[in-house]
Amino acid sequence: MSDTVRIECFDETPTRVVSGPGALDSSRACLAGMGISRALVVCGQNVAKLPQVGMFACGCEGCTDVTVFSGMSPDPTDEEVMAGGAAGREANAEAVIGIGGGSSMDAAKAIAAEIGHEGWVREQDRPGEPTVIDHGALPIVCVPTTAGTGSEVNPFAVITYTQTERKLVLNHEALFPRCAVLDPTLLTSAPDSVRVAAGMDALTHAVESYINLNATDDTRRRAAEAIRGIAGNLRAAAASADDLPAQEAMQRAAMIASLSFAKTRLGIVHAMALPLSALFGVPHGVANTILLPHGMRFNIPAAGAALAEVAALMGEDTEGLSEEAAAGRAVEGVERLAADVGAPGTMAEVGVTADAIERMAEDAMPSAHIKVNPRVITIEDVMAVYGQAMG
Ligand SMILES: [Fe+2]
Repeated sequence: MSDTVRIECFDETPTRVVSGPGALDSSRACLAGMGISRALVVCGQNVAKLPQVGMFACGCEGCTDVTVFSGMSPDPTDEEVMAGGAAGREANAEAVIGIGGGSSMDAAKAIAAEIGHEGWVREQDRPGEPTVIDHGALPIVCVPTTAGTGSEVNPFAVITYTQTERKLVLNHEALFPRCAVLDPTLLTSAPDSVRVAAGMDALTHAVESYINLNATDDTRRRAAEAIRGIAGNLRAAAASADDLPAQEAMQRAAMIASLSFAKTRLGIVHAMALPLSALFGVPHGVANTILLPHGMRFNIPAAGAALAEVAALMGEDTEGLSEEAAAGRAVEGVERLAADVGAPGTMAEVGVTADAIERMAEDAMPSAHIKVNPRVITIEDVMAVYGQAMG
């Protein structure tokens, strides 16, 4: 584990990454360097109570003046983004700092755009259409308290629209954070189930990016590093919140996976996970955990070689196996990992009902992730995979 705070830049993102224990405290310098005198912190109520966040929000002589907006729910809605935008305008914020899981970071990104254009977020409720930001967005800083989404280095924000019951991915260059602060001491506060779901989300990012139609040598190199890191550390990170080296390794793996999938996009699992969250409130990472083995199995006919490599990256023994059998080992490895860390295994376990499968399949099909999945997907395929995951 590192014992100092370091600053890194990566080719894949304009985001500067500040990492190491105590990085949040050190990030004041990052803000000061950006010339920010007033910032809006966006977080959930539990994160607002963390001592590190309290210290950060207190500020110091000559530091950025911070206003905390802690009205975020686990799945940020357009209404919450509009409320955050109003809070930011009232505070005359010059930057938005998202501290939390993917939801708070995604909300911070959307709020950074909403502050300068009231109602902007509502205008983006257009499935399959590109996100439009033509009014400028405030600079964004992201501070993850889970190792999962990698939102801190990518330009995506997942927003739930309450009136249309849709969960859409907003995607725009202006939503790239200027700075990401990876402080592993912040991960120790998350409940076990949240750490597990976040880690499985990161694994899903890495796997779907590795086998993606858009994968290149560079994206696969990043995704491979992430798969190795998650397979080697998620069990320890899930078993003990205080295992700081494991938390730090997971934090880095989740960020590295994001560098990969921001280029490739994802696949069938993420396309199918969004309706589970929008219609049944299933947390994003839990939805991915349940769907990942089924999505991988669906993809074996088109991505057997890549999935066989995934199996090896996860430490599975594939010696002497056919490509198809080795790919099957990747699926088994994921199922074993999910079981070892106590993740739910079926949609029925988390309250999803079979009568919603057709509506969920219709909602999944317009996702941009469908087009980059290695195997061509029909709506009947999606319904069949939902059926398998019902349990
Ligand atoms: Fe995800």
